Amino acid sequence: MCGIVAYIGPKEAYPILIKGLKRLEYRGYDSAGVALLDGSLRVLKKEGKVSILEEYSTSQDTSGTVGIGHTRWATHGVPCDKNAHPHLSQSGNIAIIHNGIIENYNSLKKELEQLGYSFHSDTDTEVLVNLIEDIQKEDKLSMEEAVRVALNEVIGAYAIVVIDKREPDKLVAARKGSPLVIGIGKDEFFVASDASPIIEYTKNVVYLNDEEIAVLNRNGDLEIKTLGNIQKSPYVQKLEMDLEKIERGGYEHFMLKEIYEQPQVILDCMRGRMNAEKGWIKLGGITEYLPRINNAKRIIITACGTSWHSGLIAEYLIEELARVPVEVEYASEFRYRNPIVTEKDVVIAISQSGETADTLSAIQIAKDRQALIYGICNVIGSSIARASHAGSYTHAGPEIGVASTKAFTAQVTILTLLALQLAQAKGTISQSRLRQILYELEQIPSKVAEALKTNDKVKEIAAKYKDAHNFLYLGRGLSFPIALEGALKLKEISYIHAEGYPAAEMKHGPIALIDENMPVVFIATNMSAYEKIVSNIQEVKARKGKVIAIVNSGDSQIKALADEVIELPETDELLSPLVSIVPLQLLSYHIALMRGCNVDQPRNLAKSVTVE
Ligand code: M6R
Repeated sequence: MCGIVAYIGPKEAYPILIKGLKRLEYRGYDSAGVALLDGSLRVLKKEGKVSILEEYSTSQDTSGTVGIGHTRWATHGVPCDKNAHPHLSQSGNIAIIHNGIIENYNSLKKELEQLGYSFHSDTDTEVLVNLIEDIQKEDKLSMEEAVRVALNEVIGAYAIVVIDKREPDKLVAARKGSPLVIGIGKDEFFVASDASPIIEYTKNVVYLNDEEIAVLNRNGDLEIKTLGNIQKSPYVQKLEMDLEKIERGGYEHFMLKEIYEQPQVILDCMRGRMNAEKGWIKLGGITEYLPRINNAKRIIITACGTSWHSGLIAEYLIEELARVPVEVEYASEFRYRNPIVTEKDVVIAISQSGETADTLSAIQIAKDRQALIYGICNVIGSSIARASHAGSYTHAGPEIGVASTKAFTAQVTILTLLALQLAQAKGTISQSRLRQILYELEQIPSKVAEALKTNDKVKEIAAKYKDAHNFLYLGRGLSFPIALEGALKLKEISYIHAEGYPAAEMKHGPIALIDENMPVVFIATNMSAYEKIVSNIQEVKARKGKVIAIVNSGDSQIKALADEVIELPETDELLSPLVSIVPLQLLSYHIALMRGCNVDQPRNLAKSVTVE
């Protein structure tokens, strides 16, 4: 939530900031702004997307070789010019950008008001910059010392970068609970919420840890210290990210590109981790902890949104294959309900971004209770990856579209391997069944590629149903989480109300909604529930509902009943979610596009949810 970028060095800062903000726009797009230092300190900021700021800036002075930039996802105060970042201190000497929430901002604000400070925005960030100014003024401190002392008074989460016009040769950055990465170039530094604004300038980066402050000096010195004033040596790492991977590469939208990347992503995810011929699976991250995972009395999976849906799929897979009880918890509920967790539990935390605040807190609670944490993340070096004892990366590459697609299929691939490796270690699967599933898994990338060929058909269906006000998605067994995921995809990018339900639950309520205006999407690819799904389809047809059915190719029974049919290649039922999600991703994409929605940046959402 919120993207921040900063630069200090010999180059003009503005073009670097604007380009960086465009890359970070997936994190929030309510308003954008920059502050530039060139003798004077100038702030340019506008409600709306980065392009609006860019247009506005064409008539402004954008010179300066040090600067900070921000793209906002609103928390305190509505999206408008005055609430946009950067925020200036009362004297106009200090400018700040901030990602996160200062929870005690109200009490700090009252104290500052008594000292004569007045505020021009509704944000917690303006309180923080004035707190820094007040401490600096009172105690005659350097900027970094004032930042350190101020942050010791703050409760909440933050990633900040601060500049001071009286100290034009330095940037001060700090983090707690929100990500921050520093890029080290030749006589220059970059700071950003993720590496995407940095990648084309340098591959040398330092990931700042929680409660650390970095001082980036124009002379090339980088100092890091903790909030407790302990010096740290910077740990420089090499970025593995590819510039090409964060660009649209000829696709109209990132979401479409990411949907089409799935065959390759699944392949990359399996690479080096399994061999069907030899019947082995090896998730590197698990080996050291396998005995503990093997003896776990229970596995708790915690995640949010789409990642929670992949957790539901894992519940089916792990219970079916490895016979270990699994509970799947929304991280946001788990963290607040005093859950019973012990050292005998294994907690699997799933997150694309690796930064989701609720999932991070859930991990902390489970860790405090001595559970083993296994993290499944996409973003390398992310907070959740670092907070976990063990884990596996999904290696899906940067996912920029706010609607998660390829990260989901990559998560399901890893979780399938995990379930199989556990089953093998526990002896709950025969070697022949294991090989059979692995052979089938090897075929999944080409079956997903086949599924992508339904695009034209899906587009036709989208055109017919794009004006519906509601959609129902129904599935049984492993297709139930797919129904939930299909519904989430539709609502988040097309703003059509959609619900996912277990098909058999329809008769306990949702059936009342069905009439000739209600499209009902059935995921009917799992053969063990086939006859039951056929009955559910008949129940919908009897009430004049419109049935869109996802079936295996060659199906005739459902074809005869449904209004629309999308045919997919058949696979092992346990792997069916990896294929059946594809047309649902495409359906939401086309409907959103036809309704004129911003597919990659849906309203009110942000890619990485670093607030509660
Ligand atoms: O980065 P995470 O996987 O932890 O994010 C969790 C959810 O915020 C995320 O899956 C969200 O639901 C997506 N927008 C769904 O497409």
